[in-house]
Amino acid sequence: MIEAGGYAPSAENQQPWRIIVVRDKKLQEFIGQRAVERTIELFGRATPREELERRLSYIKSKASLERTIDILISGARFEYIKGKAETNGAPVLLVLAVDQTHVGNSQATLRGTGGVYGWSSPRHAVIAGSMMMQNMTLAASALGLGSCISSVQLDHFDDVGAISEKLGIPYPHWVPILCLTLGYALNERTLGPPRQQPEEIAFLNKWGEPFKGCKK
Ligand SMILES: Cc1cc2nc3c(=O)[nH]c(=O)nc-3n(C[C@H](O)[C@H](O)[C@H](O)COP(=O)(O)O)c2cc1C
Repeated sequence: MIEAGGYAPSAENQQPWRIIVVRDKKLQEFIGQRAVERTIELFGRATPREELERRLSYIKSKASLERTIDILISGARFEYIKGKAETNGAPVLLVLAVDQTHVGNSQATLRGTGGVYGWSSPRHAVIAGSMMMQNMTLAASALGLGSCISSVQLDHFDDVGAISEKLGIPYPHWVPILCLTLGYALNERTLGPPRQQPEEIAFLNKWGEPFKGCKK
């Protein structure tokens, strides 16, 4: 999986990524607890219930909708990140960190060019890291593994600092941006929310101009 991740494209072939394979239960517990607490804050306190219902309106069964809202507002949604068997925990947690100094494989002379010329090199690292993550999830699926990308435990600056410290990540030069929980899935994969149609996603030549696909 990590090898497949490493084949992702990156600007200047910088390969601005590192993966920490977290198997230590105490570390998993720490990271999972950040996710649980932020979920309670975000969905339990800050987001009105009607808004949750609106966002989840693709769930047609009332019982499933209620259950989904319950696990969001109680934080139980992310207990599995802690990796405990009783919560169907994922045994392995990957943490992806990207290089925000954009040193990567470049020559020392290129250090810090991001910003100086108005180029956003740190942004390139985030883009490349995301592509790397996508490669890993596809590889996981090909290997018969279940995986879930999550960022909720890394969306708040305080958590990024705290998790970096626990894992020894040299933050803020390297910044953890995403986690991937991994394991053998208990259930078949269910389809996610309905997708926007190509006509809704694409414009022709100019923003807002309908694109109707290629004429046959
Ligand atoms: C940048 C990013 C952040 C995400 N953060 C979370 C998260 O914090 N918690 C979570 O359960 N899923 C998170 N996801 C996963 C999505 O919610 C969703 O499970 C994934 O895109 C697969 O969706 P699908 O079932 O429609 O294919 C994240 C995905 C991405 C790309």
